[in-house]
Amino acid sequence: MKIQIINGPNLNLLGKREPGVYGNQSFEDFFATLRQRYPAFELHYYQSNVEGELVNKLHERGFDFDGIIINAGAYTHTSVALHDAIGAIRTPVVEVHISNVYAREEFRHKSLITSKCAGMLTGFGMEGYALALEYFKHKSPAL
Ligand code: DQA
Repeated sequence: MKIQIINGPNLNLLGKREPGVYGNQSFEDFFATLRQRYPAFELHYYQSNVEGELVNKLHERGFDFDGIIINAGAYTHTSVALHDAIGAIRTPVVEVHISNVYAREEFRHKSLITSKCAGMLTGFGMEGYALALEYFKHKSPAL
């Protein structure tokens, strides 16, 4: 089962960025542990700070991968292009946020992409990505 994880803007700074909100671990380190925990998945990771590159990656993976997990960062709250891209592809998408966006500023309470996603996880820290993998595992009981 092929799963693409996509992280959006500023998430390349995980581990250094606002550790009180996002924790101390880099995504690369967390991703290495995910690979160990979920050997049955073929896990791919992509990060970009550029909105159009996130759209391109959704198009690239959106027809032959089995699942996409996206943390679109701040574009979550602004991007009609990501909303449309997720709506355009066939692969199911799970939205993840490390922090609890509803416990933060009001501008973070609105997501433009949730309506096109299978579901959304927010506030579980990095573990949210693992919970999204559990969802895909549940969908495919052979794993
Ligand atoms: C975030 C929440 C967003 O509001 C913020 O812009 C981010 C990270 C999260 O993972 O908690 O960059 O998506």
